[in-house]
Amino acid sequence: MGSGIAQLAAVNGCEVWLHDFDSVALSKAHESISSRIQNLVLKGHLTKEKGGEAIRNLRCTSNLEDFRSVDIVIEAIVESEDVKKKLFAQLDNIVKVSAILASNTSSISITRLASVTSRPSQVIGMHFMNPPPVMKLVEIIRGASTSDDTFNATKLLAERFGKKIVCSQDFSGFIVNRILMPMINEAFYALYTGVATKEDIDAGMKLGTNHPMGPLELADHIGLDICLSIMKVLHAGLGDNKYVPCPLLVQYVDAGRLGRKKGIGVYNYSKM
Ligand code: CAA
Repeated sequence: MGSGIAQLAAVNGCEVWLHDFDSVALSKAHESISSRIQNLVLKGHLTKEKGGEAIRNLRCTSNLEDFRSVDIVIEAIVESEDVKKKLFAQLDNIVKVSAILASNTSSISITRLASVTSRPSQVIGMHFMNPPPVMKLVEIIRGASTSDDTFNATKLLAERFGKKIVCSQDFSGFIVNRILMPMINEAFYALYTGVATKEDIDAGMKLGTNHPMGPLELADHIGLDICLSIMKVLHAGLGDNKYVPCPLLVQYVDAGRLGRKKGIGVYNYSKM
């Protein structure tokens, strides 16, 4: 997600610092963004000049101190409240007073992330869909203290990236995952209880409801670990047993079957 968001920003004329503590992951991300930008040029979506400019806009760092002068940080790290809070507290001490701290969290409370900073009015959710360069939506989430100025600046940035925005209040799962994840979880229950094969569940939803991917294929695309952690956030935050994660989803994650990124999830991609 982080590299997709960085690509969007660089292509749309923003100077971007892409940060990761792992320098190997960072150089891989730089390579894949550059090659995706070059593909956009080859396909005629970008001029050669704009492509070159986009690649020059992108700088990589493993040092958070390089964020001192940025106007906005878009955090897209692991989906863990504790880890995100630690990073937000660190960033709060580094970035300039006027900077906005945005989170690409799929479900974690923006109000709670904001609570560890000295600038809760400048903390906001900016939730991109996967893959960010392709999907048209950005969901913007206002925490309890998010100011109108922060909301308007974030909305303008999403629109500069060519996205349509929707605005959600800060309740677990926001809009998209509140509705999408129970559907994916239900697809796991259908598989778990032998209603149908994985292929028929996916074909049923693809062809029967015009979804571009079936729910199990989509879960592999998102990452089963991410789907599981969102179900846990929905269950804990909304307190309804209808959000209990399906045991089959839990078992796949326990087995390391995390989806496309691991070569195996509901489907086995190493055979493809
Ligand atoms: N990064 C950048 N571009 C990508 C890409 C990626 N990872 N994957 C595909 N693309 C581009 C391709 O280059 C291609 O571009 P052109 O039209 O310019 O050639 C275009 O997308 C279509 O790709 P393909 O022809 O290879 O494949 P496709 O037509 O099957 O589309 C898809 C792939 C866009 C992923 C489509 O299957 C789709 O829309 N799937 C549903 C995705 C979805 O629902 N995402 C949201 C998940 S929920 C979420 O993200 C929120 C959360 O918190 C979990």
